[in-house]
Amino acid sequence: LAETTRDRWLAAGGAELDVAREMMLTTYDVIVRTMLGGGGVDAERVERAVNDYLDPLGWVIAMSIARLPPWLPHPGRLRSDRARRFLRREIVEMIAKRRRAPDAQDDLLALLLAARDPESGHAMSDRELADNVLTFITAGHETTALALTWTFYLLDRHPEAAERIRAEIEQVTGGGPLTAEHVAGLAYTRQALQEAMRLYPPAAAVVREAVRPVRIGSESLAAGAQVYIPIYAVHRHELLWEAPEVFYPERFAPEAAKARHRYAYLPFGAGPRICIGMSFAMIEGVLILATLLRAARAELRPGFEPELRLRVTLRPGGGMPMRITPRRD
Ligand code: HEM
Repeated sequence: LAETTRDRWLAAGGAELDVAREMMLTTYDVIVRTMLGGGGVDAERVERAVNDYLDPLGWVIAMSIARLPPWLPHPGRLRSDRARRFLRREIVEMIAKRRRAPDAQDDLLALLLAARDPESGHAMSDRELADNVLTFITAGHETTALALTWTFYLLDRHPEAAERIRAEIEQVTGGGPLTAEHVAGLAYTRQALQEAMRLYPPAAAVVREAVRPVRIGSESLAAGAQVYIPIYAVHRHELLWEAPEVFYPERFAPEAAKARHRYAYLPFGAGPRICIGMSFAMIEGVLILATLLRAARAELRPGFEPELRLRVTLRPGGGMPMRITPRRD
């Protein structure tokens, strides 16, 4: 799928593309293919619905902070509710089709259909299956797309890092085709992606609720208190990082990373609810980045500065307009 995007980029020969959208299309294909075998859903409609569903989430979060009841109206609410109903319906229909004619698909839905609770022996209901699949689709494509989009932005600002990645790819592949076996060897490529997620964490904050009264340092929290972990701020904290505003992938060399506090770097969260797709995202991100960087140059539109827009995820407002030119060397 990374090669499909690469071919589109090569065919575009010198045109300006919105790299944010390009990455979204690519990771969306990846997630739908791995979660649902790629079949049976109207990809564009689902993508639109996911957007409609997520758009007003800023309101939902603001209302929850203010402890307002969740049924209160807010902008985008009707569209969001409609989108959620559409998404559930679409997946439930697909599940019904699978139950009628079980195929030998090797995807997440097949695993979930076969799953049994180890204690009760129960299978998942249609509703549970649909909610799980939707969680994976929504949690698992925009985040990775944003990590890649911000990486392209930073590499435009740091061409020496882009060249170093290109040199690494040629060295690791010996100039041949890039395959999954090469991922482990692409250490600097991975570090660049990690450093991009430090400066622009796709999930810029996570929320927890205290289940019982608790003391953290000098703070006392009552049961039910909501706690926001501002990952973006932690990642740029001067007590935790040297020259935090500087893009410096070498920070993630194994020795340097080991010396750091475990909670200084949280792009995937931490603890029992750490991102279940973390390894998946890193393999996917490294392969997409390497496949595209190797084939083309991506230069930000002169004078364009992306503004940061936090909508659950950290998006570039106005997208990421970049001129894509095939590499001849
Ligand atoms: C660069 C890409 C990604 C980033 C930055 C990211 C970030 C996160 C974060 C911060 C959490 C924890 C949320 C919390 O603690 O409240 C999380 C959870 C989750 N992520 Fe990811 N994620 C990424 C990719 C993926 C992918 C590719 C998938 C699916 C294949 C995925 C599926 C999930 C799921 C299902 C959860 C909930 C896990 C649970 O609650 O047990 N994520 N992700």
